[in-house]
Amino acid sequence: MSRTALVTGGSRGIGAAISVALKTAGYNVAANYAGNDEAAAKFTAETGIPTYKWSVADYDACAAGIAKVEADLGPIDVLVNNAGITRDAPFHKMTRQQWQEVMDTNLSGVFNMTHPIWPGMRDRKFGRVITISSINGQKGQFGQANYSAAKAGDLGFTKALAQEGARAGITVNAICPGYIGTDMVMAVPEKVRESIIAQIPVGRLGEPEEIARCVVFLASNDAGFITGSTITANGGQFFV
Ligand code: CAA
Repeated sequence: MSRTALVTGGSRGIGAAISVALKTAGYNVAANYAGNDEAAAKFTAETGIPTYKWSVADYDACAAGIAKVEADLGPIDVLVNNAGITRDAPFHKMTRQQWQEVMDTNLSGVFNMTHPIWPGMRDRKFGRVITISSINGQKGQFGQANYSAAKAGDLGFTKALAQEGARAGITVNAICPGYIGTDMVMAVPEKVRESIIAQIPVGRLGEPEEIARCVVFLASNDAGFITGSTITANGGQFFV
């Protein structure tokens, strides 16, 4: 029987590529999204992957959304914590709201999604929790004190939870994409973006599918001995 996967932020950008790659690999896939109804409807029409709307920043909404997905598709075997936002500003201009919004979605969102799904994975003695962190959680980034802190937090979460999941057949891993050609990166001012691309040894932005293939591998039975790890996929921009 096919396994079920839930991808947060799964209807656009890297998340959309992950949803499609998992479906192609034979999973029953549900894609969560928070805001863009039009993009979600288009994504479902094009891929046949159902989309479910709630904010990962809201714990109760996560619990209710997960219950709905499980009622529709069955227990979630693979959780991909992909949803993320940026609120970039140099620290002296960063507001408390910019800090809080990024922490709520990019760090607490990972707790809010994993916590309700975890007991079922433990009971069934199988699970895959894959969190999309970032190169900027590894190296820091000017203008991203909030985002870098949250994404680094995701790596600590991954390493701690991997130890708790190991005996229950649950692997917990992270992927740190570098700069990928999505709306999020295209929102960076062009001059800044050009200077970033100049720092990428392979000389280009990454493609969402290049991250999706890492997810499919980590979700597979073949990756059962890999837990607490970080796959770094950044075109050589930063070596850990
Ligand atoms: N290092 C040092 N100085 C830098 C710098 C850097 N990397 N980037 C900008 N500066 C300097 C500028 O040269 C400028 O200096 P001067 O005032 O002396 O000319 C100053 O900072 C700019 O200050 P401003 O007050 O004008 O800044 P701003 O309010 O316009 O904000 C910014 C600038 C929003 C931080 C903008 O530089 C920016 O968007 N940077 C990109 C941040 C980034 O990489 N975000 C990643 C988004 S994609 C993503 O997050 C996905 C992922 O996981 C990789």
